[in-house]
Amino acid sequence: MNLPSSVKVSEVVTRDGFQSEAQTIPTDQKVGLINKLSTTGLRRIEITSFVHPRFVPQLADAEEVYRRIERPTGVEFIALVPNLKGAERAVACGVKEINVVFSASEAHNRSNVRMSVAESLENVGKIVELAQEYGIKVNGALATAFGCPFEGAVTVQQVMRLVKEYLAMGVASVSFADTTGMANPKQVYDLVSRILDRWPDQEFSLHFHNTRGTGLANVVAGLQAGITSYDASLGGLGGCPFAPGAMGNICTEDLVHMLHEMGIKTGIDLDKLIAVARYLQELLGRPLPGQVMKAGKVSDLHPLLPS
Ligand code: COA
Ligand code: ZN
Repeated sequence: MNLPSSVKVSEVVTRDGFQSEAQTIPTDQKVGLINKLSTTGLRRIEITSFVHPRFVPQLADAEEVYRRIERPTGVEFIALVPNLKGAERAVACGVKEINVVFSASEAHNRSNVRMSVAESLENVGKIVELAQEYGIKVNGALATAFGCPFEGAVTVQQVMRLVKEYLAMGVASVSFADTTGMANPKQVYDLVSRILDRWPDQEFSLHFHNTRGTGLANVVAGLQAGITSYDASLGGLGGCPFAPGAMGNICTEDLVHMLHEMGIKTGIDLDKLIAVARYLQELLGRPLPGQVMKAGKVSDLHPLLPS
């Protein structure tokens, strides 16, 4: 297999994971979880989102979370920003890196940020300008890049056009999000190959949800096509409150376990990560989708059963 030697994993549990949790998670617990995550070797953590608290009440404490977390060197703390107002809040808070987002499909974009794609492009352009003024790094996420729960198929041409728009604005990287888990490995390989053929030196990343069980298979397709940066959520928590049937992201510790078994480096201490996943499961008081934290690693051998 043609595989990279190392992969960059971005943790999104306290943003994508928490945004659809109904029960309010106390700020202390969010800060505590992020502090634990930043000791695992993870280099990138998307910690929160500067959204309107009416739309995503769970993330109403974005400022406080950002201010209170410990910031060990070598770990980048990123915040999602859905609109200009959110970007202003991020600037005021001293955030160093943001992810902006709009959808490849009109219907999901309206449902998510209440704008047309054209309006979003204008809006994101303003956010990028503001961020550049303050020396903030911006990554562009393209939601529903592999299909829309309202409109169905999203064409490669549509995606290419929007990538071009993002790159023209000067974003540092573009991420393709499978918001409601519609992608399959062939589709991922084909799309990403086309993108990398066209922009071979540009940084891209992939954001998968495991809604229909194809999450890690999609990662393998992405790896084979040459993508070395992936989002994932601890315990497999996650989902978009503005897309029907959205489910958990691919699970961070399952992803890291698979990568390590394939000989691909992540810089992450898997045992520590699994311990934090188990801690999160206890914190939320229900079983999470993550599998390795239940089954153990393949290297965890069992004593022979007495005959
Ligand atoms: N943070 C705080 N307040 C915000 C805000 C933000 N990011 N964006 C808008 N507001 C406030 C405005 O200041 C305005 O307040 P006012 O009535 O006191 O003047 C009010 O909200 C309405 O502003 P408007 O620009 O019309 O926003 P909207 O109602 O069209 O909502 C979004 C736009 C993007 C804020 C909203 O759709 C949203 O938060 N969606 C959630 C997207 C998301 O998180 N999706 C999941 C991740 S992909
Ligand atoms: Zn997501």
